Amino acid sequence: MSDAIKPWGGRFSEPTDAFVERFTASVGFDQRLYHHDINGSLAHANMLNKVGILTDDEYRAIEQGLEDIRADIQAGNFEWSVTLEDVHMNIEARLTAKIGDTGKKLHTGRSRNDQVATDIRLYLRDEIDAIAAELTRLQNGLVDLAEREAATIMPGFTHLQTAQPVTFGHHLLAWNEMLQRDYERLMDCRKRVNKSPLGAAALAGTTYPIDRFYTAKLLGFDAPTENSLDSVSDRDFAIEFTAFASLLMMHMSRFSEELILWASAQFNFIDLPDRFCTGSSIMPQKKNPDVPELVRGKTGRVVGHLIGLITLMKSQPLAYNKDNQEDKEPLFDAIDTVKDCLKAYADMTPAIVARKSYMQEAAGRGFSTATDLADYLVRKGIPFRDAHEIVGKSVAFGVENERDLWEMTLQELQQFSPVIETDVFDYLTLEGSVSARNHFGGTAPEQVSMAAKRARDIIAER
Ligand code: ARG
Repeated sequence: MSDAIKPWGGRFSEPTDAFVERFTASVGFDQRLYHHDINGSLAHANMLNKVGILTDDEYRAIEQGLEDIRADIQAGNFEWSVTLEDVHMNIEARLTAKIGDTGKKLHTGRSRNDQVATDIRLYLRDEIDAIAAELTRLQNGLVDLAEREAATIMPGFTHLQTAQPVTFGHHLLAWNEMLQRDYERLMDCRKRVNKSPLGAAALAGTTYPIDRFYTAKLLGFDAPTENSLDSVSDRDFAIEFTAFASLLMMHMSRFSEELILWASAQFNFIDLPDRFCTGSSIMPQKKNPDVPELVRGKTGRVVGHLIGLITLMKSQPLAYNKDNQEDKEPLFDAIDTVKDCLKAYADMTPAIVARKSYMQEAAGRGFSTATDLADYLVRKGIPFRDAHEIVGKSVAFGVENERDLWEMTLQELQQFSPVIETDVFDYLTLEGSVSARNHFGGTAPEQVSMAAKRARDIIAER
C-alpha cells in the first residue's frame, strides 16, 4: 500500500520506515474493536447529520458503507493493512474506497483519540455484561451445590490444620460471598466505564456545533464525560476492570487450591468429573485436576496486567500519548482469561461430587470437637481458661493413645474433670458440634439452608 494514502501523510516528506510502521501499528490487536468502532462512527455520523454538518444523503451513504464494511469483516472479506496503522484508519480508508469522498467527511469534529477511548469503553461494557452473566451462572451453581450439601460434614481448617467441623455447604457459601463482592465491584466499575468521551476530539474539544449528549444517548452511555483533556487520557476504567479481574482470579485461585487438595488421594473429599481432568502419559493411575491448576496459574497473568496498566499510566502527562495504545493487549487478555476461567468453573461446579464418608471420617480425626468439650465444661461452671487446660490434657492423652475425644470412655474423660458426665458425648459428635453453631452466619445445616436461600434471592435480583 502506498504511503500517500496515510490519512496524516500531508506534512511528511518521506515514507515511514518499514520497521517503524510495524512497531507503531496496533491493527494486529485492535481489529477486535471493529464492531464497536463502527457503532461509534454510526452515532457520530448520525449526530453530524442532526446538527447539519452531513446532509441526509451523505449520512445515508456513510451508514450503508459502514454496515457493508461490518458485514465484510464478519464474513472474513476484509484485509487489514499495517500501513493504515489501526482499526480506525483501516475502516475509514475502506469507507472512502467504497463510497467516495463522502467517506472523508466522517472524521469531522472527531479524533482517533476520542474515537479509541469510546471504542474501548463500548467494547469493555459488552464484555462486562458477558462476564457478569458467567459470574451469575457460577454463583447459581455454587449455591445449588451448597444447598444440596448443607448437612454434609467436613473438617474446617485454620493453618490447614483441623480446627472445627463445618458443613461443606457452609464452605461453598464462603466462596459465594467472595464472588458476590466481585460481582458488586464489577457493577461499580461498569458505572464509570459507561460514560462517553466522544466529542472530546484530539484533546480540547472541537469548533463544530456537536451534540455530545446525543451521541452518548445513541450509544447507550449514561452521560458524556466531563472534561475533554481527561476524556482522551483517562484509562482508570481499564485499571479498575483489571483490579476487579485480579481479585476475582485471586479468589478463583483459592477455590482451585482447595479443589486440587481435596481431589488428592490424601484428602479424597471430592471427585472431579473426568471431562475436566487429564491423565498422565507415563503413570496410568493419574487423574490430574488440570482445570483448577490452570485457573490457579492464570491468576498471575491477570495480576500482571493490572500492574502493567497502572505502570503504563504512571507519570503520563495530559492528554493522549501513544503510550496509551499499550492499554489494549493487557486489557483484552484480562477479559479473555477471566471469561474462560469463569466458563470452566461455571460448567464444572455443578458436577463436583462430595465424597461424604471421607469428609466425615476426616472431620472425626484431629480432635475437631475439642472446642465443643471446652464449651461443655464452661456450661458446667468451669472458667474457660481452666476448661482449655482440661481439654488440652485430654487431647494429649488422645494423641498418646491414638484415640479421638469421642472414642474415649467416660472414665477416661473423667480423669481430667469430674464434672464430665455421660451427656458429654452429645457434644463430642460432629453433628452436635455443627448444629450447635446455630446463629446468623454459622455453620449449622439449618443456617446454611437459610443462607443459601438469601444468596439465591440476592442473585435473582440482578
Ligand atoms: N491506535 C491508537 C491507540 O490505540 C489510536 C489513537 C491514536 N491517536 C493518535 N493521535 N496517534 O491508542
